[in-house]
Amino acid sequence: MWASAVLLVLLGSFGANALDNGLARTPPMGWLAWERFRCNVNCTADPKNCVSEKLFMEMADRLVEDGYKDAGYEYVNIDDCWMAKQRDANNKLYADPERFPSGIKGLADYIHSKGLKLGIYTAYGNFTCQGYPASGMHLELDAQTFAEWGVDMLKMDGCKQMDRHTMKKGYPQMTKYLNATGRPILFSCSWPDYERGAGIPINYTLVAENCNIWRNYVDIQDSWQSVLSIIDYYAKEQDTLVPVAGPGNFNDPDMLIIGDFSLSVEQAKAQMAMWAILAAPLLMSNDLRTITPEYRDILLNKDVIAISQDNAGIMGKRVLQKSGVDIWRKRLQHPIDLVDALVFLNANSTPMNVTVTLNDVGIESAALGYAMQDLFSGKTIYLGQMTEQTYHLTPWSVLMYWIYTSS
Ligand code: GLA
Repeated sequence: MWASAVLLVLLGSFGANALDNGLARTPPMGWLAWERFRCNVNCTADPKNCVSEKLFMEMADRLVEDGYKDAGYEYVNIDDCWMAKQRDANNKLYADPERFPSGIKGLADYIHSKGLKLGIYTAYGNFTCQGYPASGMHLELDAQTFAEWGVDMLKMDGCKQMDRHTMKKGYPQMTKYLNATGRPILFSCSWPDYERGAGIPINYTLVAENCNIWRNYVDIQDSWQSVLSIIDYYAKEQDTLVPVAGPGNFNDPDMLIIGDFSLSVEQAKAQMAMWAILAAPLLMSNDLRTITPEYRDILLNKDVIAISQDNAGIMGKRVLQKSGVDIWRKRLQHPIDLVDALVFLNANSTPMNVTVTLNDVGIESAALGYAMQDLFSGKTIYLGQMTEQTYHLTPWSVLMYWIYTSS
């Protein structure tokens, strides 16, 4: 009661035009088509993998039947290339009728019948990144159309809007139109990434007032190198990015590529651990119909998900670099005695050993010492805050712990 009153005051203080949807209190979880399925629109040649309602329905079925929904994954998100090549006679967007015979409304009904939510994609500017019609001149109409269809999340891209300076006006306009629909629609903005690319200073206060999640950096690709370069960006920018994250607002380092072609099992654990510690959206882009059990288990690791979904919504930080290992810490909110999550990341192609005390990584003040649970092996160790411990890391791997005072 008290908490919701505070929330209302906080939301109200952003003013009438700010994002007012109460969503993304913890980082959103779900599935997003782009990285794995791209703009494959050839359903004749590739009916199983083309961007079509069938693809999204099949992923929704897998989310429900294979335990992902129970673990918290709830959004099924369409990306680029869903639209017909033109708007209709009333200027409305509509889905390619061959690939989406039920229309987006029909697809939304299906997704909702499974207890899931539907996300859709548009762009600021006249065309999407792949050249399909986008929202440029029709922000208000499109916001209304998405709400009518029962859409629950909107990603608004912007690569064809060449004047990036207009984004700090255009995105907040869309926020206003989304709010005006009265339907809670989680808003995912690409705006800061485009400003970054153009060398325009990013006003993150404005971004957080208008977006639930936002891309900061380049697109993820299916490679370990890409994962590492993204982590590196968030480490370098952490002093700017950590303060703007919190319930309702999260930095988005892009999709999880766990279960795709490139990451080993250890590298997949590393992406999962790092995205959890960063309080990043957990939007998988993979083929849930063919993923193998060892990758599925990583995506369903309930302890790692609990770190990601901690109610305080704090984004973790890199707190120490030592002996070739990066140590990240995320503060947690927990009713009684839970303190922190730690990730040890070895980004090297050789094994590394690092010796630290918990005190070295900024964890203090527990007279009775700590219990540390390894979130991938389940093993628990007990330590005093000043006790040195050596952590052994295989090449390209992480160790992830959840740490609580032992009482
Ligand atoms: C941009 C975005 C990607 C994806 C593609 C679609 O590159 O950053 O996430 O949406 O466009 O064309």
